[in-house]
Amino acid sequence: MKIREMQDEIIRLKKEKDFCILAHSYMSPEILEIADICGDSFKLSEEAAKVKNKNLLLCGVRFMAEGAKMLSPDKNVYLSNPEAGCPMAEQIMPEEIISFKKAHPDYTVVAYVNTTAALKAVSDVCVTSSSAEKVVSLIENDNILFIPDKNLGSYIASKLPNKNIKVLDGCCPRHNGVTKSEAVSAKTRHPNALLLAHPECRPEVLELADYIGSTSGIINYVRNSNHNEFIIGTDNSITEYLQLEYPVRKFYQLSEKLACRNMRLTTLVDVYNILRTGEGEKIELDPELSEKAKKPIEKMIELNRR
Ligand code: 13P
Ligand code: SF4
Repeated sequence: MKIREMQDEIIRLKKEKDFCILAHSYMSPEILEIADICGDSFKLSEEAAKVKNKNLLLCGVRFMAEGAKMLSPDKNVYLSNPEAGCPMAEQIMPEEIISFKKAHPDYTVVAYVNTTAALKAVSDVCVTSSSAEKVVSLIENDNILFIPDKNLGSYIASKLPNKNIKVLDGCCPRHNGVTKSEAVSAKTRHPNALLLAHPECRPEVLELADYIGSTSGIINYVRNSNHNEFIIGTDNSITEYLQLEYPVRKFYQLSEKLACRNMRLTTLVDVYNILRTGEGEKIELDPELSEKAKKPIEKMIELNRR
C-alpha cells in the first residue's frame, strides 16, 4: 500500500469509528499529517480533557496515553505502540517520594508529566516543559521537590531564584547525553546558526542556547524568526520536521545522540492496524489510582490558565 493510500484509509476509518488521533511533535510527518491534534506534552494533556470522540489514539509514549485516560476515563484510549515507553518516567519509585514527604511535610512535590501513574498519584502538581516555569511560579509554597528530571528542575530553579527547588537524580538519557563540547563544536561549525534547546539538556548546554523551550516552543520559535540557520537541541524528528517545513533554511542536529528510540517505534502501519482491526493496547488504569494521578495534571492545567 502507498503512504498516501494508507493515510486516506486512516482518515476514512477514524471518521467511521469515531477516533481522535493525538500525536506528539516527535512523531513522523506521515503520522502528524493524519492526526487531529499535534503538539507538545502540554497541548496533548489539555486537549485530551476536551475531546468529544468515543475513542482516542495516542501516538507518542505510554505516559501520554495514561494521562489521556486519566483525563477522559470514560473514553477508550489506545497507545499506538505498546513498546513505546519513556525511560525517565520510571527512574524514581513512588516509595522514595512517600518517605521524602514524611521527612519534609513542608515541601510541594512537582512531577514532570514524564512519570508513571503511580508517581503522579503521590505528587502534588504536574508540569510539562512548556508549562513548568509558570506553574511552579504560581505554587504558593516556596519549597519544591522537582521530579524526575534534574535538568528541567535546575533550569526552572535558575528562572525562579526565590523558590527553594530540590531535584532528584533523574534525566532523559537522550538529552542528558549531549555534552558541552558537542554544543561548542556545533556552534563553531555553524557560527551563523541559533542554538534552540529543550530544557531536558544539561545546564552547561542550556547556557550556550539562544532559546530554551519545549518541542512546540522550538517549532514556534523558528516559525516566528527571521533567522535562516538553526542548531536543534532536541530529538532529530524536530530537525527533520522543520527542514520539511522550511526547505530553504538550514537546520543542524546538535548531536546524533538526540534520537529517541521509543518515539520512533510508532509507525503509520501501527495507526492503520489499530483503526482497521480495533485491536491494540487499550489503556486500563486502576480507577482509584487514576483518580489520584489525575489531580496533579488537572492542577497544572488550572494553574497554567491563570
Ligand atoms: P515536550 O514537553 O516538549 O512535549 O517534551 C516531552 C519530551 O519527552 C521531550 O523529550
Ligand atoms: Fe522520554 Fe527522553 Fe524520549 Fe522524551 S526524548 S520520550 S524524555 S526518553
